[in-house]
Amino acid sequence: MYDLIVIGAGPGGYVAAIRAAQLGFKVACVEKEAALGGTCLRVGCIPSKALLEESYRLAELRQNPPGLRLSGLEVDLPSLMAHKEKVVRANTEGVDYLFRKNQVTRYLGTARLLSPHRVRVEGPQGVEELEGQRILIATGSKSASLPGVEVDGQRVVTSTEALAFEEVPRRLLVIGGGIIGLELGSVWQRLGAQVVVLEYLPRILPGMDGELARQAERIFRKQGLEIRTGAKVVGARAEGEGAVVELEGGERLEGDRVLLAVGRVPYTEGLGLAELGLSLDAKGRIPVNKAFETAIPGLYAIGDVIQGPMLAHKASEEGVAAVERMAGHYARVDYQAIPNVVYTHPEVASVGMSEEELKAAGIAYTKGSFPFQANGRARAMGETEGFVKVLAEAKTDRILGVHILGPRAGDLIAEAALAIAFKASAEDVGRTPHAHPTLAEALKEAALDAYDRPIHI
Ligand code: NAI
Repeated sequence: MYDLIVIGAGPGGYVAAIRAAQLGFKVACVEKEAALGGTCLRVGCIPSKALLEESYRLAELRQNPPGLRLSGLEVDLPSLMAHKEKVVRANTEGVDYLFRKNQVTRYLGTARLLSPHRVRVEGPQGVEELEGQRILIATGSKSASLPGVEVDGQRVVTSTEALAFEEVPRRLLVIGGGIIGLELGSVWQRLGAQVVVLEYLPRILPGMDGELARQAERIFRKQGLEIRTGAKVVGARAEGEGAVVELEGGERLEGDRVLLAVGRVPYTEGLGLAELGLSLDAKGRIPVNKAFETAIPGLYAIGDVIQGPMLAHKASEEGVAAVERMAGHYARVDYQAIPNVVYTHPEVASVGMSEEELKAAGIAYTKGSFPFQANGRARAMGETEGFVKVLAEAKTDRILGVHILGPRAGDLIAEAALAIAFKASAEDVGRTPHAHPTLAEALKEAALDAYDRPIHI
């Protein structure tokens, strides 16, 4: 009898399992893939970052950085892919190590709930039944499909296959100008593909602050990404030597590969939830209460299968909070402080509310911004595109949102998340000493601009 059985070993499930073990629980974790770590570590965040980092290095060198004269740069795709696999292995094997260290028992196989306390695991070694005091579902999500788009895994693919093309496509058509479309579109464009991003809405990165997304769109276009907004894809399939995409209105585009990236949907198939009488919401998510418990006592869910942004770190936070509450501690997730990062170049990072959300909520706010153009370190790096924007409540000066487009925005946003978590005012951040010369000074200056005036512009 386990105290907790976790189903799924992604950043939600594996983190929950480790934290539960630290709290003294006897924990089992069931995962159907041989490698631990879920979508994020195996076919998501980690491999895409390995490709983004290396392809950016290439793009940077191709621009003849000051003081260097380079020639004969070539892409060696097989060794780039081997590097990516090595990075993935180091991470997934790291989870194996952490499971051993924390005595989390790992089961290889597909889990199905037989009752709120019994799980059937079917794996290569046969079938086993496990019994648990509590069960936590952390099965994540899968790529959403689009009517008319025939994914074959070869020429019309999802992100999983687009992380492992054996050759650089000549022309890659990307359906969806969201995070995956822009990240993987950037990778293949840098490696030599002609990339066309087809986005249904009038702008890319829906949900992120509009000003940020508009500037990002301009920069990506300048880099050579062809972005077509207002382009609704109604069909796509392999055809002839390549593939075609059909837009509403009848236009047909040809390419040799198509990447479908129009969002993700919760992955709950085969868990046996309906048989237990558990119903899902209209978006296929599992309803839970504040303790992450479903309508069935003892059965919990976290991460992409419940509501909220589908982000690895959101799932991890929920995993920790869920098991700490099971152990009788006080724990909560501060959803306002969850950052969202797009790892393009420059990076796009947000935390808290966007200007659009503040306006919709009728909250009066002050706005401070600061361009990287005026930041000494950014100039020295030759990375002066973008800006930092701080949004603070007009009445209290409390920071409600921070939006960054620029070099290392994904790292810089951590300070903003901390500020929001600690309910800091713009003045708090503006009066905090920041090391010079660093990119982080741009956040300090934007905060100064929000409540008074910046020094360097
Ligand atoms: P997304 O929701 O970010 O973007 C999908 C895009 O497809 C939207 O802009 C949407 O308007 C567009 N679209 C929908 N139907 C369309 C149609 N018929 N024709 C043309 N465009 C259409 O979804 P994405 O990029 O697939 O990412 C999925 C999830 O994975 C997201 O929730 C994201 O948060 C997560 N993710 C996070 C990453 C990160 O944190 N860096 C990286 C990759 C994914």
